[in-house]
Amino acid sequence: MATRAIRGATTVRTNTREEIISETGVMLLEMLERNSIKKEDVISVIFTVTSDLNAAFPATAARSIGLTRAGLLDFPELNVTGSLKMCIRALMFIDGIMPQSEINHVYLNNAIVLRTDLLKKEHRVAVALDGPAGSGKSTIAKMAAKELGFIYIDTGAMYRSVALYCIDKDIDYNNEVQVLRKLDNINITIENANREQRYILNGNDVTDLIRSPEVSDGASKVAAYKAVREKLVAIQRELASKQSVIMDGRDIGTNVLPKAEVKVFMTGEVEERARRRYEELHLKGMAVTFEEILEDIKKRDYNDSHREYNPLRQADDAVLLDTTHMSVEEVKDYIVAEVKKYIKEV
Ligand code: DC
Repeated sequence: MATRAIRGATTVRTNTREEIISETGVMLLEMLERNSIKKEDVISVIFTVTSDLNAAFPATAARSIGLTRAGLLDFPELNVTGSLKMCIRALMFIDGIMPQSEINHVYLNNAIVLRTDLLKKEHRVAVALDGPAGSGKSTIAKMAAKELGFIYIDTGAMYRSVALYCIDKDIDYNNEVQVLRKLDNINITIENANREQRYILNGNDVTDLIRSPEVSDGASKVAAYKAVREKLVAIQRELASKQSVIMDGRDIGTNVLPKAEVKVFMTGEVEERARRRYEELHLKGMAVTFEEILEDIKKRDYNDSHREYNPLRQADDAVLLDTTHMSVEEVKDYIVAEVKKYIKEV
C-alpha cells in the first residue's frame, strides 16, 4: 500500500448548510466509487471553501457519509478575482495500490469548468469554428483546445492533404473526374506527437508540406467535389464522436457537426487576414509576397463560399465574431468562456 491523493471539487447554488453537506457528500462518495476505494482506506481529507460559503463545514459531510476515522480539515480559499463561486474542493489521501496516474479525480456541477478535460463521455462538447481563410481559426482553436483539454481537429489540413496527393501524383486537381478516380487511394490519418498533431497521408507525415500557396489553391478546388467532401466529412464525424473537440473549417457548424454545442463563425477584413497569413508563412521561411497571399485569400474566399456543396456559410445558430481588431488572446478567451458557459448551463 502507498499513499495516493484524489482531487475533488463541486459547487453549490446556495450558501445553505443543507446544500453544502449534501453536495460535499455526493462528491466524496463519487471520489470513493470512481476509484473503488473503501471508506476505511481514507487516511485524511483536506477541504477548501470559497469565501462566499460559511453556512457549514464540509468536513461535517465526511462524517455523515461514514468517514469516521479519517483526519479532516477545512480551510478558507484565496479570494481570487474571477475564480469559481460557491466552490468546495477536497484533497483526499488514501491507502491504495493503483498508480497515482490512474486515479480518477472528480469534478461535479460547475466545478467541471476547472477540468474540462475530465468531462464524462455523455457530456462531451463539440465546438464548431468556421470562417474564411486567415480569420485565425487554427491558431485560436489550438490554444482553446489546449486550455480546455479538448482535441483540436483541423479539417482544412485534410483537404490540403488531398490536394498534395494530386500534386505529387501529377493529377490535375482542377479535373474532378481525375481526382475522384484516385480518391480510394488516399488515406488520411491524424497522429499525436509531442502534443502536436501530425497529418499522415498514406503513411507519410505531410504536416509541413501542406501549407504552400499551391496546396492552398488545390485544397480549395478539391473541396468543391462532393465525393471528396463526403469522404472527409465521414472521417471528421468519426473523430468528433469519441471525444470533446474543437473542429475548424468551413462547414463544421452547418454540415459536419450541425448539433455542435458551441458554434462560432469568425470573420475579419480581408487585408488583415492576408497580413496574418503572410506573417505566419514568412515565419516558416516561405518565400511569398503579401500580394500573392492577398490574391490567394480573395480567390479562396470566392471559391469556398460559391461552391455547390457545403459552402462557407455561417450557421443560423452560430455566434458571429469579427476578429479584425481583436487579439489572439481575446478571441481564445471568448471561445473558452462560451464553452464554460455552455457546460455550466447543462
Ligand atoms: O482552413 P484551410 O485554409 O487550411 O483550408 C484549406 C481549404 O480547404 C479551404 O480553401 C477550403 C477547404 N475546406 C473546406 O472546404 N471545408 C472545410 N471544412 C475545411 C477546409
